[in-house]
Amino acid sequence: MRPRKRAESHVHAKLSIVTATTIVRGLPPGPPFQLLQMVRYLRDPYVTLRGFARRYGNLFTVRTARVCVMTGRPDLVKQIITAPVDQYGAIHEPGPARVLGLYGTTRMAGRPLRRDRRLLVPHFQGEALNALGGMIREAAIEAFEGFEPGATIVVREPAIAVALDVILRAVFGADTPQRRQEFRTAVRAFSKGFGSPAFLLLAAMKFDNDNLPPFRRFGVARRRLEELLQDAMQRARTDGVDSHSVLRRVVAARYDDGTPMTDGAIRDNMITALIAGHETSVVSLCWGLYWLHREPRYLQTLLDELAPLGPDADPMAWGRLPFLDAVVKETLRLWPVVTDINRVLAQPMQLGEYELPPGTNIAASSAILHYDPDLYPDGETFRPERFLERRFGPHEYLPFGGGERMCPGSHFSVYELKIVLATVLTRWRYTLLDEGTMKVKRMGGMMTPATGVRLRLDGPRR
Ligand code: HEM
Repeated sequence: MRPRKRAESHVHAKLSIVTATTIVRGLPPGPPFQLLQMVRYLRDPYVTLRGFARRYGNLFTVRTARVCVMTGRPDLVKQIITAPVDQYGAIHEPGPARVLGLYGTTRMAGRPLRRDRRLLVPHFQGEALNALGGMIREAAIEAFEGFEPGATIVVREPAIAVALDVILRAVFGADTPQRRQEFRTAVRAFSKGFGSPAFLLLAAMKFDNDNLPPFRRFGVARRRLEELLQDAMQRARTDGVDSHSVLRRVVAARYDDGTPMTDGAIRDNMITALIAGHETSVVSLCWGLYWLHREPRYLQTLLDELAPLGPDADPMAWGRLPFLDAVVKETLRLWPVVTDINRVLAQPMQLGEYELPPGTNIAASSAILHYDPDLYPDGETFRPERFLERRFGPHEYLPFGGGERMCPGSHFSVYELKIVLATVLTRWRYTLLDEGTMKVKRMGGMMTPATGVRLRLDGPRR
């Protein structure tokens, strides 16, 4: 007898049809684990995930280091992001805990998660944000000035400087050059520690021994960062100097019962914001400058919109410009830095026709959703005007995730991107040096344009 196709027999072995209608126990179909496939997924999750969705349908199971049920179908994405707070548990893996700590929101679930987020998230948004515009512009000018006309700029480098500077000032409240320098050194050692191949390998294999050299070295770096944060919290309590910083406001905030957040929780949440908010902003800025120089007609439309306000405009006025808003949204749609948002079920969930048990990992994939031809016709093309032509619901546009865990930095980073783009483009003229289709590569756990985006500085914009 001829063997049946592998994927098919695998799926059938797993499924047991419970009713004659639609409910199915077991996992949706998907590719069997293969090392080559895992390497492909790690190298280019965008193409790989869309390939899986085409082959297996838009609800499928991926088997890499862990097993995860994924979808990019708008109705299922909606179900995932609107599920009640008790639907999901916290992801308790030792690797992320070592980096992000034990007391931040990433380790929480259910009502405690909601309570802590209610205390934290407002300080990343609203009024407080408006006050940071001038500082973001200053950081952008410092990072992008000083190049001679004709110089080749690898955008990733000044982008790293801006994003770190903005987080150090706006989130940590590092208000003097000396404090920023101390933080920068500590952050560099911290990032180097958890980005090293040895650390990543041991963490992926779920080793949990502090004495292993990569973990020991990282521990030293984390403690240094914790010391600096502890000092910053102390200063925030006593002299209130950095009154606009997120840290300052979180230190002063109180839960409904009048108690403050513990120092350990504040510290771990600030470290999480640093990790979650730094590389994401760097990559988004690289893509924004890439697309605008790759599609000069959009650059011109944006310059026409910016021109009446001038290079020293009130940053809040930039924040309100519709075409600039559309450019930022389209940039985040086309190459979402975080390709899928993950949850682990604490309660059973019926997703599509599948009844999934507690403990199942599920994910909503922006890499698939953002290319849905019904929502985004011609999805491979950079077309900012699609965001002027229609509004997209939270389940149709997912660069910042959604629901109870949605990125608290979403307003912050959109505002930052707008100000940095407006600052740089109203001051300098560039030519894109990268030709052909831009490839992506994984860096610091995220996908980034492979060349870092190379621009030639043509001179000041008059
Ligand atoms: C373009 C920039 C950014 C992108 C694309 C981005 C995207 C995301 C995404 C997709 C998530 C997961 C959400 C979910 O699971 O539903 C997330 C989580 C998070 N982001 Fe962002 N982010 C960005 C910038 C920032 C910034 C600037 C900050 C802080 C200053 C920040 C802080 C966080 C934190 C703390 C979490 C974890 C939330 C939790 O699990 O409770 N992010 N981000």
